[in-house]
Amino acid sequence: VKIYIPCDTTALAMGADEVAKTVEFQSREAGLSVDIIRNGSRGLFYLEPLVEVETARGRIAFGPVETEDVPGLVQALVAHGDPSEDKAFAGNHPLYLGLTEEIPYLAKQQRLTFARAGIIDPVSLEDYQAHGGFEGLSRALALIGSNGPQGIVDEVKTSGLRGRGGAAFPTGIKWQTVLDTPAEQKYIVCNADEGDSGTFADRLLMEADPFTLIEGMIIAGLAVGANQGYIYLRSEYPQADKILNQAIKTAYARGYLGENIQSSGQHFDLEVRLGAGAYICGEETSLLESLEGKRGLVRAKPPLPAIEGLFGLPTIVNNVISLASIPVILAKGGEYYRDYGMGRSRGTLPVQLAGNIKQGGLVELAFGETLHNLVFEFGGGTFSGKPAKAIQVGGPLGAYLPEEQWHTPLDYEAFAANNAVLGHGGVVVFDTSVDMAKQARFAMEFCKIESCGKCTPCRIGAVRGVEVIDKIIGDDHREQNLELLTDLCDTMELGSLCAMGGMTPYPVRSVVEHFSGDLLKTIAGKE
Ligand code: NAI
Ligand code: SF4
Repeated sequence: VKIYIPCDTTALAMGADEVAKTVEFQSREAGLSVDIIRNGSRGLFYLEPLVEVETARGRIAFGPVETEDVPGLVQALVAHGDPSEDKAFAGNHPLYLGLTEEIPYLAKQQRLTFARAGIIDPVSLEDYQAHGGFEGLSRALALIGSNGPQGIVDEVKTSGLRGRGGAAFPTGIKWQTVLDTPAEQKYIVCNADEGDSGTFADRLLMEADPFTLIEGMIIAGLAVGANQGYIYLRSEYPQADKILNQAIKTAYARGYLGENIQSSGQHFDLEVRLGAGAYICGEETSLLESLEGKRGLVRAKPPLPAIEGLFGLPTIVNNVISLASIPVILAKGGEYYRDYGMGRSRGTLPVQLAGNIKQGGLVELAFGETLHNLVFEFGGGTFSGKPAKAIQVGGPLGAYLPEEQWHTPLDYEAFAANNAVLGHGGVVVFDTSVDMAKQARFAMEFCKIESCGKCTPCRIGAVRGVEVIDKIIGDDHREQNLELLTDLCDTMELGSLCAMGGMTPYPVRSVVEHFSGDLLKTIAGKE
């Protein structure tokens, strides 16, 4: 019997290794022959560890499985030797979820970038190929043969893909800039320093389907004439580091990396470099500084990295999800990808549901879905059962949205109209027990701690921001301090060198605008 037990960080944190060991031991004891495959996660984190058993009808799922559930599971497998009779089997296990693909959370998704996540063994190149892997690369090589590298860049432009790291800059235009900048050496840098609170799409992709990222980076290299790639990975992701390195080694051994890729005469080298824990190293220019071995200080732009990037040479810096979306765009065509989405937000967005939510996990859908549907239909509402009060979208520098904005469609422009950002797709839910004044203070404090210190509005502004918010909370000259806070937010937004200081006002302003009751609540004894 084939049994799938994920080896992704979330599943491991929930005890997947112990479950796998117990399944192996109990099966041996019961005389049942099992083949355990350590797949990636499907992204249904609320069901981890999700154990899947292969049947004639497809994979059936059980979850969340704890070690004490394993004997019952193995007994049921033994009793129903033919797991295709899963109806009888189901009746014997309380954790039975039916066919994995039919679990509504998964069935309702539109998985393009995460199509293989949880299905394949992440480090098996055969499995990757058997599920459409490297079809994008074949097409890219064919396009180079017919139209040269411009053919690949044109396909990416057609897709309408915009940077999934958060800034949503059109990927094809970025690639065009690098292609058009002549240089002896160019680089492809993958930003895998996923620092936003509540986000895990990059990690999930790297741990579940690392060859997709590798393939995307090779195609990017072919498109702009770069033969060296780096994945700048946050050191907090040791499992992703292990899986990526294993996959890269296999790709070299099988002729997908190195000189003469698949006998095409093309050359691309790739390695993983680890960060050291600074949030600001997710900002592209300080990432490049860090990659060069220096302290992660933000560089002024221009020059853009596309023109003077790593070691002063033309560099594509793209987020994991942007690069991992390239293989499907090349394999199925830019138009196929562009047909998903709304307005100028084309394709799909992997939304990450976290915080106080019943069913946390990854939901990949075409742009246009409402936040309300995601949190209440997919997420099942709050974990605590109390009403939801605020939803923060786009990481610690994203706005807190009040209930009246939860029906906004997920679309870059619609969010911008609400003074909010979609960012990297992180959705963090708060229930009515949250004190939004503390959340506003937290935004400034976060900026104070993580500021690289290069520019004054952010370095000093964040410190003053904490002080001013403390005064407002403490009912000390409230009116003047509220005015001062607005002033300070203007200065930080307009005067900061990068998005760290420039976006910290977003969550703060959203609290002032929508949750002022918390900020101005009456202090006991002061009335
Ligand atoms: P940005 O708007 O300055 O630049 C976006 C990208 O487009 C950059 O790579 C830039 O070099 C490139 N670009 C701009 N004009 C170009 C041109 N004419 N040709 C070629 N390339 C061009 O935004 P930035 O500062 O890179 O990113 C800010 C965003 O990062 C925020 O919106 C935030 O959502 C996100 N963010 C994401 C985090 C994460 O963990 N994923 C953490 C913190 C922030
Ligand atoms: Fe550094 Fe903050 Fe200025 Fe960005 S805004 S350059 S993080 S000091």
